[in-house]
Amino acid sequence: MDTSLLLSELRDGVLVLSLNRPQHLNALNSALLAEIDRQIGSAHDDKNVAGIILTGTGPKAFAAGADISEFADFSPEQGVELSKRGHEILNRIESGPKPVIAAVNGFALGGGCELAMACHVRLASQTARFGQPEVKLGIVPGYGGTQRLAELVGKGKALELLLTGSMISAEEAHRIGLVNEVVSPDALMDRAQAMMKEMISKGPMALAKCIALVNARYRTGQSIGEGYALEAKTFGKLMGSADFREGTRAFLEKREARFTGS
Ligand code: COA
Repeated sequence: MDTSLLLSELRDGVLVLSLNRPQHLNALNSALLAEIDRQIGSAHDDKNVAGIILTGTGPKAFAAGADISEFADFSPEQGVELSKRGHEILNRIESGPKPVIAAVNGFALGGGCELAMACHVRLASQTARFGQPEVKLGIVPGYGGTQRLAELVGKGKALELLLTGSMISAEEAHRIGLVNEVVSPDALMDRAQAMMKEMISKGPMALAKCIALVNARYRTGQSIGEGYALEAKTFGKLMGSADFREGTRAFLEKREARFTGS
């Protein structure tokens, strides 16, 4: 475990994790990927953490992809294992109970773009660049990029980006639905904090269930009817919670709700 690869700072319930290999444009080697998995896993279990912001250190990169020097000599079998491990780790981020915002401060390429896509919301600095350049290396994205990119931007645009391997600007990423918002570099972390604060002031069980219900539609192959059934069941279950009683009472009493997650 090398905690310096991923810097962490917890303030007011928001854990900021910063990928910290700026000299390698925060390329995701296996140690960094394992550290992301470990720290996000602990954050999911930590009652002091309500939400997570993922960003990169340095002005240039969020993450410029998986570490090419690490897998350049891999065998086909090692390639399968690398890809599966990436899928597992990114799936845990996507399906975790706490909101994760990617604050994309520079290059988000290959595995970096895939990592950002596994987060629940993407905010980008005007200097950010996005792309899946794997075809330039003679491979395909391995951390879910062929699947999540098509979900976010549609099949035609996804195929254009995948087949050309070209990079797009933050503005273009916003236009096609790959990122939620674009802000100036100086404003990126403040905006991420403000959006996260807005999220975590809500009932934590409701947040976790929103994530689970949307993911169920995309990840379990359930039909729309099954999705409605699960939504109705969850809706009813949450009506039995203390948070629902507090939320409705606070509305009627015209005050801020104080949720406890119970
Ligand atoms: N894996 C390993 N090292 C990487 C890397 C990656 N994905 N991306 C960048 N680096 C390293 C470079 O090798 C370089 O290291 P060095 O100084 O020891 O030579 C350092 O980070 C800086 O990168 P550099 O290429 O000099 O910066 P640049 O501003 O000229 O170019 C990029 C930036 C992002 C366009 C370029 O680094 C690039 O194309 N990276 C690879 C992107 C990619 O293919 N990602 C998908 C991998 S599956």
